[in-house]
Amino acid sequence: MKKITDLQGTFKLSNKVEMPYLGLGTYQADNEQEVVDAVKNALNLGYRHIDTASAYKNEEGVGKGIRESNVARKDVFLVSKLWNADQGYESTLQAFEETLERLGVEYLDLYLIHWPVVGKYKDTWRAMEKLYREKRIRAIGVSNFLQHHLEDLLEYAEIIPMVNQMEFHPYLVQQDLIDFCNVKGIQYESWSPFMQGKLFSLKNDIFRELTEKYKKSIAQIVLRYNLQKGIVAIPKSVHENRIKSNADIFDFELSKEDISYLDSLDKGERIGPDPDNFDF
Ligand SMILES: NC(=O)c1ccc[n+]([C@@H]2O[C@H](COP(=O)([O-])OP(=O)(O)OC[C@H]3O[C@@H](n4cnc5c(N)ncnc54)[C@H](OP(=O)(O)O)[C@@H]3O)[C@@H](O)[C@H]2O)c1
Repeated sequence: MKKITDLQGTFKLSNKVEMPYLGLGTYQADNEQEVVDAVKNALNLGYRHIDTASAYKNEEGVGKGIRESNVARKDVFLVSKLWNADQGYESTLQAFEETLERLGVEYLDLYLIHWPVVGKYKDTWRAMEKLYREKRIRAIGVSNFLQHHLEDLLEYAEIIPMVNQMEFHPYLVQQDLIDFCNVKGIQYESWSPFMQGKLFSLKNDIFRELTEKYKKSIAQIVLRYNLQKGIVAIPKSVHENRIKSNADIFDFELSKEDISYLDSLDKGERIGPDPDNFDF
């Protein structure tokens, strides 16, 4: 098991870049004051990793939040994603510049291909490799790539993606894909660790038992479950109290049995689109 220490602890990517294993998600956080405050509060509370995307239409606010925080840009692990309509070699290079401009930064720590648009993602990857080689991005990766997408990309890629960001929670474990990524040295990262909030309304005895046993909330148990499985997590909240409590997970450890117990909830249930069947 990888060592989990504190909010600024990291997992080392295949290129030796350190990626903080807990970050702040910003999907559906408004570009106006909402995302500015969420990012600023998270950084001031000790978070060092912020996840955004061109598709979230809040990159300006994310950049503003970083500048308004007490944390220097160089100490933030900043992630954005290339949107589907921008896939292709030249359009990726162009979209990357626009993302930097909106964020008001000189470089990204991690840039991801948001979805595996078939027929496009190889040319896109060539552009990502170029930007990486030019040191415009510290690490490059993908999102929503199933094993067959990764196998196809790996046959072509000169640089193996460092990260794969996937929907992951106890109802959608995809352990085979996690194992495949681990073997290839691709860091697994979860999106929607709380099923966009749905997890909290599920009537589930396992959650009740674990919250009583560890005296922690469902959110905290689920995030700890991510980290102990070696998975980077980026829970989203725009509320300071939740941003704070989601990071209060470094004073307890789930037993191996309880991790297996949570794994056993897997139903293959998605909250988001299927990477093999999306139309955007
Ligand atoms: N690569 C992709 O395709 C992809 C897709 C989806 C998401 N993502 C990334 O992953 C991040 C996380 O996923 P997500 O935003 O979809 O969903 P999520 O993190 O699973 O859930 C967010 C929801 O949970 C609520 N929440 C957060 N902490 C809580 C707590 N302690 N108690 C109760 N409710 C709580 C939030 O409400 P409030 O904000 O009102 O507190 C929000 O409604 C995104 O923000 C985004 O950065 C990536």
